[in-house]
Amino acid sequence: MQKQYIEENKDRFLEELKDLLRIPSISADSAYAGDVLKTADAVAKSLVDAGVDNVEICETPGFPVVYGDKIIDPALPTIVVYGHYDVQPPDPMDLWESGPFEPVIKKTAIHPEGAIFARGACDDKGQMYMHVKAFEVMNKTNSLACNVKFMIEGEEEIGSENLAWFVERNKEKLKCDVILISDTGILNNDNPSITTGLRGLSYVEVKVTGPNRDLHSGLYGGAVANPINILSKMIASLHDENNHITIPGFYDNVEVLSDEERAEMAKAPFDLEKYKKALDLGDVWGEKGYSTMERNSIRPTLDVNGIWGGYTGEGAKTVIASEAFAKISMRLVPGQEPEAITKLFVDHFKSIAPSAVKVEVTPHHGGDPYVSPTDNPGYMAASMAMEESYGKKPIPVRSGGSIPIVALFERELKVKSILMGFGLDSDAIHSPNEHYGLFNYFKGIETIPLFHKNFAKLNK
Ligand code: BES
Ligand code: MN
Ligand code: MN
Repeated sequence: MQKQYIEENKDRFLEELKDLLRIPSISADSAYAGDVLKTADAVAKSLVDAGVDNVEICETPGFPVVYGDKIIDPALPTIVVYGHYDVQPPDPMDLWESGPFEPVIKKTAIHPEGAIFARGACDDKGQMYMHVKAFEVMNKTNSLACNVKFMIEGEEEIGSENLAWFVERNKEKLKCDVILISDTGILNNDNPSITTGLRGLSYVEVKVTGPNRDLHSGLYGGAVANPINILSKMIASLHDENNHITIPGFYDNVEVLSDEERAEMAKAPFDLEKYKKALDLGDVWGEKGYSTMERNSIRPTLDVNGIWGGYTGEGAKTVIASEAFAKISMRLVPGQEPEAITKLFVDHFKSIAPSAVKVEVTPHHGGDPYVSPTDNPGYMAASMAMEESYGKKPIPVRSGGSIPIVALFERELKVKSILMGFGLDSDAIHSPNEHYGLFNYFKGIETIPLFHKNFAKLNK
């Protein structure tokens, strides 16, 4: 029944997603605020059309949260579906092969059946919309097995500050047995996996000031501190020769995995040569003593996300800049608290600055790491669902990305989130030419109702 309904409505399911992708809901850029609001309206309308009740656009101090529910029987378990309708800015624009907000379908080596190219195709409009369509499928085929509540936000890509505000004020409304999220990925289309961990985040911006004005680099060069030289040196000193982070106390509370857990992780299929080839790398890089898979999931990191200062225009200008800047992110693992790590960074960064410069550090948003056990009904329902739709049992995998609100859900609502995502690392989220496989989109729509079915069964 469900499969047939999906088959008959495939084209429409795709066209509707394309319409959603045409609205540039860039939460970070105030020039697009109107489009973000338009997207909230479109999401709300799609919920109504799918048969969801009590659809509301809930105002917050920032962009609204779209809510809607269908309570078929209060005695049945309730699933909250979380997703986000905002997207990352599309820049650099010149690297897009087609417009970021003009969705087109193209075949790729990894997606021979085609993929939809647009900003947000995978992160997260495409994945969020699978839940709207899966709901429609269940509703129209009279096969809803659980109560469902949708909570779709518009500020995930800028830190979810107002979703935290919303959750704290709506605990009763959001009461549920599990939160289901498709905003992560799988290993590949032959090896389904379920994300059991997310890293936390501490994000800071630093400013190094040297002389009180830009100077002639001949007249003053060599005699005054060049803030760009100094900043580069300070940043370089944040890692030692083994690529360990040098901030005192940084690793103090880091959760250490047992040898058994690490051996279990190493069983996940991973091809280093393919990995290097896909990224055009001569070699990988990272913390000594850990594999690539470990480096990008169970270990904390520090990365410069942007660095600027001085003259970057055409040609050469001989100048010593007055100021230099960098944006730095630290990915955190269980045991590390964002506020504490930010403080360690600030104290350390100031302590290593020579007296020839002034240093300012401004903290940005942060977020707690998250881990989910594999022995709860939510994980088991997801595992059974994927096994049914892929014909293969999914592997638990810890991811390197962050969805800071997930730890807050656990703290405030006392429920676990299940990260049943369908994206691939190669889908280029946050990069030019982001895309989402049609196989993945429809596999998601097929798998989600199986989660509902199994979750109801396990809660009987
Ligand atoms: N959906 C991603 C996070 C993600 C992607 C987790 C793939 C695991 C696998 C999310 O939209 C995101 O981009 N999060 C940000 C953090 C946020 C505070 C901007 C991130 O991880 O950089
Ligand atoms: Mn996302
Ligand atoms: Mn994202």
